[in-house]
Amino acid sequence: MSLFQKKDIRALIASQSNSGLKRDLGAWDLTLLGVGAVVGTGIFVLSGTGAIMAGPGVIISFIIAGLACLFAALTYAEFASTVPVSGSAYTYAYATLGEFFAFLIGWDLISEYLLAVSAVAAGWSGYAQAFLESVGVHIPTALTGAPGAVDGVNTFFNLPAFFIVMVITLLLSLGVKESKRLNNVMVVIKVLVIALIIGVGVFYMEPANWKPFIPHGWGNVFSAAALVFFAFLGFDAVSTAAEETKNPAKDLPRGIIYSLLICTVLYILITLVITGLVPSESFIGHEDRPVAFALEAINLNWLIILVTIGTVLGMMTVILVMLYGLTRVILSISRDGLFPRSLAKMNEKRQVPTRVTWVCGIVAGLIGGLVPLTKIATLVNMGTLAAFVTVAIAVLVLRKTEPDLPRKFKTPFVPLVPILAVVSCGYLMLLLGGTTWIFFGIWILLGVIVYFAYGRKHSLLYKKQ
Ligand code: ALA
Repeated sequence: MSLFQKKDIRALIASQSNSGLKRDLGAWDLTLLGVGAVVGTGIFVLSGTGAIMAGPGVIISFIIAGLACLFAALTYAEFASTVPVSGSAYTYAYATLGEFFAFLIGWDLISEYLLAVSAVAAGWSGYAQAFLESVGVHIPTALTGAPGAVDGVNTFFNLPAFFIVMVITLLLSLGVKESKRLNNVMVVIKVLVIALIIGVGVFYMEPANWKPFIPHGWGNVFSAAALVFFAFLGFDAVSTAAEETKNPAKDLPRGIIYSLLICTVLYILITLVITGLVPSESFIGHEDRPVAFALEAINLNWLIILVTIGTVLGMMTVILVMLYGLTRVILSISRDGLFPRSLAKMNEKRQVPTRVTWVCGIVAGLIGGLVPLTKIATLVNMGTLAAFVTVAIAVLVLRKTEPDLPRKFKTPFVPLVPILAVVSCGYLMLLLGGTTWIFFGIWILLGVIVYFAYGRKHSLLYKKQ
């Protein structure tokens, strides 16, 4: 059988109605799911590092990263409305580029979501510890970070990071309905807190802090864009909920695009505010809590407490949606036989893939406990950008191979928008350092080995031949 054997796209579309998953999500739920996945560590933590790199020009970095995501989102939306089955880029690639590429992109998505869960959990740990300290609870230093996380401090395991992943895993294993409700409440709190920072902070801004606007050159503005790209990551997780959506063809594109637009507006406003409150270089040494630091500088202490609580809650929703996306991608791959089918086993009562949820949660929790946050964030960006490039190419391929397929949402200005997605995401990939490329290469190589050692032999598509 050819490595590039494709799934029959029409059969795929027809099969999605009886997946066994409960259909109870609408466009508004998906938008909240998207915002829940997107607003987190990127804006609350990496905005500070970005401002140190690019000065107030970090606002432009956010716009650049947001544009790359918008191009990619428009291609995701076409796929999500055309092939509304769970599995996201993996499924789209299976129907267009063939099994081998599909497996690799699925493998890539696994690293993206898995490491994102771990990274955000490690970021959450820092804020949670600050909160606990403020109420007099002290965690032994050895258990506050991964080995080597902080120079000169003997840390051994990031216990809070592990703990929060376990809590979220438990929630997900209890069923999507419960998790969805909780997600919605936390997202509303998070957005309100951000609105408060913007609404109050705007009266304390000092325009002199924006001069010079680009103190370290355009090169740094672009490098910061490749870093803060992390802040946009997650809207693609919306498409992984396809099989749990009431009207996927209409609601998925809406959920993807609305959540991306909401987040972009919030990011531009909040970076304008924080770079207006303090000189950008003063974020040095405060990279772990830049937003709270900017508020401290103008003595808005009451707001800091709210921001800390909002941030802790906000990051929990990011972990929740990422873990959800991860389990759904693995579910899709194992249903196709490319991973052991036992992973796809559903809990009949709750209609949740309990086993895979726990396996993913434990692995992500251990990585979050043992690996420093900074080491994994760029790898997450790399994996996501690779998926975006693939989906954009797949949209072009599908327009050629299946021009008559009903598309409820069409990417505008084809081929321009998909090409812009490939170029902008590809360029951001190039800006990520050599080490990131090496790790990415090793991971993909491992994927190739797993595919030939297991996937290819057990592929259902192959057995049907
Ligand atoms: N976009 C997500 C965050 O900023 C991953 O935490």
